[in-house]
Amino acid sequence: MDLVGLSLPLLLVFWQWTTTTGAAVTYWTYTGSVGQSKWADYFPDCGGTAQSPVDVATVQTQYDPCLGPLTPLGYSQHGNKPFSLYNNGHTVVVPLPGWMGLGGLPWQFTAVQMHLHWGNGAPEAGGSEHTINGQSSAAELHVVHYNSELYPNMSVAMTQQDGLAVLGVLIETGEEANQAFWNILNYLGRVRHAGQSVSIPAFDVQSLLPSDLGRYYRYNGSLTTPPCFQSVLWTLFTETVKISHTQLMKLETVLYAKSVKVYTAGEITAIVIGALCGCVGLAVIIRFIVKTIRSTSSWDVLPSVRPAPVPRTKEPGKELKQDVALNTTSEPGKKEDPVPSSV
Ligand SMILES: *[C@@H]1O[C@H](CO)[C@@H](O)[C@H](O)[C@H]1NC(C)=O
Ligand SMILES: *[C@@H]1O[C@H](CO)[C@@H](O)[C@H](O)[C@H]1NC(C)=O
Repeated sequence: MDLVGLSLPLLLVFWQWTTTTGAAVTYWTYTGSVGQSKWADYFPDCGGTAQSPVDVATVQTQYDPCLGPLTPLGYSQHGNKPFSLYNNGHTVVVPLPGWMGLGGLPWQFTAVQMHLHWGNGAPEAGGSEHTINGQSSAAELHVVHYNSELYPNMSVAMTQQDGLAVLGVLIETGEEANQAFWNILNYLGRVRHAGQSVSIPAFDVQSLLPSDLGRYYRYNGSLTTPPCFQSVLWTLFTETVKISHTQLMKLETVLYAKSVKVYTAGEITAIVIGALCGCVGLAVIIRFIVKTIRSTSSWDVLPSVRPAPVPRTKEPGKELKQDVALNTTSEPGKKEDPVPSSV
């Protein structure tokens, strides 16, 4: 059984490969070997106690009279410089100018970027990260800010407990197109692949937010993706914004960012073992058939039907035709036909 002898070392090599590839992970995905259930293995904060997103169980929320309305600062002053839009392999990101910020929080926060989360178009699978009473929305917009009163920049702030403030906007589908969202969606086709970036006209970012900024859910949470730092003061607006089905479909289908199916080490191992077992099984079956045919060839192929050995020297086309013709008359003996080692 040469095949088994070969497949064992192969499996071992493969096992080593699948177990060592996880060693130095700096990238992540939503599914697969560095998928959501494994994030905490590689990014310790992802296993923290304040992990976002959360499901907002509205009966368990408490009204807090100390919370004031949130004030976007400079959101509508987009200036003359264009924005940029890039595909980071997970989502589309729009870096925001430093004069944009948030008022109405315990500290002064400066805008850094905004990005979107969405689903794959499956009817039951919502694309939002936060859910309300277990219900997800079609998509979600996040506007990320850092605490510029206490920290020099985003990199430092994101590791601090009071470092970030993120606005979460739940997006649902409605009848009409949302003109503000075309400012982003129109350009998705130019950043289909991870790493691509495009310059887009600057626009009023506040137009992406719901009109009622006074009602929201507030909690201390984290970045929703690795490294999952537990450093985010979340504001999830109660009012949702609506985009059209066409707009949602554009979001769900234009980018290649998330559509890649990544197999887990376990799945790959299963596939490889399955394939090897299949090959070994097939070899055994073929061997068995050949043996059976050989042992029964005495009655299977009668000398009278047995074709004369075909000279294999020239005219391969003619020879092939001949074989086919012969096979029709001696079907059961096909496999058995001894090939002369030299003609
Ligand atoms: C952020 O600030 C720290 C401390 O001042 C500095 O060392 C670091 O280079 C800065 N990072 C960026 C990306 O500007
Ligand atoms: C969030 O944590 C801060 C301390 O960092 C605390 O003062 C604040 O009350 C917390 N907010 C909520 C909504 O839990």
